[in-house]
Amino acid sequence: MTGLKEKLETTIQSLTLDGQPENLYNPIRYILSLGGKRLRPILVLLGYNLIKDDYESILRPALSIELFHNFTLIHDDIMDEAPLRRGQSTVHEKWNQTVAILSGDTMMVKAYDLMLDTPKDRLVEALQKFNKCAVEVCEGQQLDMNFEEYETVTEAQYLEMIRLKTAVLLGYSLEYGGILAGMDEPQLRKLNSIGQQAGIGFQLMDDLLDVYADGATFGKQVGGDIASNKKTYLMLKALELANPSQKKELDRWLYSPDSDTNEKFAAIRTIYSEIGIFELMQTKMNAYYDKAFSLLEALEVREEGKEALKKFLQKLMRRKK
Ligand code: IPE
Ligand code: IPE
Ligand code: MG
Ligand code: MG
Ligand code: MG
Repeated sequence: MTGLKEKLETTIQSLTLDGQPENLYNPIRYILSLGGKRLRPILVLLGYNLIKDDYESILRPALSIELFHNFTLIHDDIMDEAPLRRGQSTVHEKWNQTVAILSGDTMMVKAYDLMLDTPKDRLVEALQKFNKCAVEVCEGQQLDMNFEEYETVTEAQYLEMIRLKTAVLLGYSLEYGGILAGMDEPQLRKLNSIGQQAGIGFQLMDDLLDVYADGATFGKQVGGDIASNKKTYLMLKALELANPSQKKELDRWLYSPDSDTNEKFAAIRTIYSEIGIFELMQTKMNAYYDKAFSLLEALEVREEGKEALKKFLQKLMRRKK
């Protein structure tokens, strides 16, 4: 299972994503040209590969998930007022918000187009499951926005929010690979759980990188979550474990809307370090990945398929972007 990403890139090149007006279609090709890990379509291929080996036959349907993901990124960047994506300007910054909204909408429809390549006897099932997942992503995104205004968010509320906004799509990606390969429902349910457990670990890592990544490698604005008072796992734990003086300082930064972004980031990062948030976070993340690995171990499928998926998830755990 080498060269998956390259095969996906070549297939992206072959997609018809142009038309008029140009400023509707250019952002679509722009965001796709900026790269990205292509994690979700790779999961589709790896899910398929658990029982079958002709994964080259499903490159197009696999990419439906990447198009959907890129649509969510364009809209997420408007919501999060993010300046950078994959090391370049976000679509709403480079063009404007209306363009970003409509290009995003168009990408979502193009995602459905590609999904129509699903074998007829599994198409309705794939679409129904995908639709459920896509609505959950919206639910998670709205919770994420709502939580910016909350004083406290519990760990359970946070975990459910990231399960919805991020993990269900990773779950569906693996499951969709299984559907395309012809797996039955009990196996599909297990596959989805593996993706969701890894997906929670993945979003925990995303939150961690938002504070600790090297900006040039990360490709997104470092400190964006702190600037917008996101209730990340780091912030929840800091609020929970802070001593009275640290708590007072955290509150001061959270409730001073006009504070300097860089000063706020540096101050909160210092409190995170004092409390040992980085280590806490790693432990939590590893627990979710471990759960994914043990579910994978128990799956009755080709050993080589399991090994490829395991290797890929291990690499994902160590990512720097
Ligand atoms: C970013 O997803 C959005 C999250 C769910 C954290 P990725 O980290 O997969 O972004 P790309 O596609 O590799 O750029
Ligand atoms: C967004 O989470 C998840 C999506 C559904 C797009 P984030 O807002 O943390 O993603 P990034 O950090 O901007 O990629
Ligand atoms: Mg967001
Ligand atoms: Mg964001
Ligand atoms: Mg993030």
